[in-house]
Amino acid sequence: MAVRGQFSSRLGFILAAAGSAVGLGNIWGFPTQVASNGGAAFVLVYLILTFIVAYPILMAELVIGRHSQSNMVDALQKISAGNLAKKIGAGTGYWALIVVSLILSFYMIVAGWMIAYMFQAATEVFGWSEASAWLTDFSTSRNITFSLLFAFMTILIVSRGVSSGIEKWSSRLMPMLLVLILLLIAYVSMQNGAVDGWKAYLVPDFSKIWSGDLILSAMGQAFFSLSLGVGSMLIYGSYVSKKENLVVLGASVALVDVGIAIMSGMLIIPAMYVALANGVTIFNEAGQLIGGDQLIFTVIPALFDTMGSAGDYVAFVFFVLMTIAALTSSISMLEVPVAYTIESTKLERKSASWLIGVFVACISLVLIFNFDVLFGLVITLTTKYSQPLLGFMLCIFTGWVWKRDSILQEIKQGADNVENSVFWKIWPVYVRFICPLIILAMAYHTIFMS
Ligand code: PHE
Repeated sequence: MAVRGQFSSRLGFILAAAGSAVGLGNIWGFPTQVASNGGAAFVLVYLILTFIVAYPILMAELVIGRHSQSNMVDALQKISAGNLAKKIGAGTGYWALIVVSLILSFYMIVAGWMIAYMFQAATEVFGWSEASAWLTDFSTSRNITFSLLFAFMTILIVSRGVSSGIEKWSSRLMPMLLVLILLLIAYVSMQNGAVDGWKAYLVPDFSKIWSGDLILSAMGQAFFSLSLGVGSMLIYGSYVSKKENLVVLGASVALVDVGIAIMSGMLIIPAMYVALANGVTIFNEAGQLIGGDQLIFTVIPALFDTMGSAGDYVAFVFFVLMTIAALTSSISMLEVPVAYTIESTKLERKSASWLIGVFVACISLVLIFNFDVLFGLVITLTTKYSQPLLGFMLCIFTGWVWKRDSILQEIKQGADNVENSVFWKIWPVYVRFICPLIILAMAYHTIFMS
């Protein structure tokens, strides 16, 4: 068996796990969902669900990961006593492997769009307009080219291993992305139309809050954005040293992730209304959002257009940073099946990374060739349905299968005064009863009430 890698510092872990969490989910997924699900009402439900469901499950993944020192398939078996529990644990782990591979397959496509727009900004600077049109046109050839390029980069980093690959990449450019988003928020706020955007983003229409679809979308978004249920956080947890305080680490990651999602909403939603004020068509006659997945690729370039010639440079930097944010997430996805493979077969990290990476890239091609039918379907099946259900299974394993003493023991390591904290008093009971009940209630509400 391969020697397990470890993050070399606390900051290394926070940056890597925050790197996993912060990605297309925050800057592409979140604003698109806000725009298509009634603005501020969605933001509110998303925030509540992140706090009451997603964060507790993030903690479950980190604690199980560090305790078991293994991938999700083995981890859930290790914390189970009986044979049946072990079998269900393994089954849940395999399901997670499938879901994370499918997520990666659509993620490569969207990340490819970011790369295409990055090159497009560069061609504008040099005045190569023919290439520029190909890069922004939604075509199969473009989508294939850039999703494969992105797949290649992901595989290359994962094949180099945890500390030398993942940690280094995650720790570099994330702070830059944050600064750029803040500057862009300041810029967009000064444009015509931004005020309407702020209203749509901040003033909830409470009549929309109980819509089953809104709640389910918000739940899926909360799980997707924190990389939950599929074993990414679990495997990163397994690389954390026993000297670290998991409670603090988990809270930091969740705060960074939610913070960046909220900020990218503050950028994209006002930018939508600025584009609208400038004559770009965003809504159809019935007032519904058009463009869906392509929303930010309409809105963001329109914003950069208002900046004159500086816009191309800003666009270039923006899409470079987006590509990197996507990479730090995609590596945490590929790491899940790769870690499982190296820990259960004789394959080396390098061959495992290439084998699985190429396989997932092939699924990505299938999605590109059947884009209209499969793309949305795979997103719905994985993020809206599977991730919350996998989260439910993690609660069951943490709260009912695993021995309580052993959980508490694991949390205590590296966390000196944790016994006095609210977390210590509430969380173990919470993941046992309340968290799974909330997920079940959501499922019930969606199936029967909407
Ligand atoms: N959280 C990532 C994002 O927001 C996506 C992700 C999902 C990463 C699942 C790992 C596992 O982009």
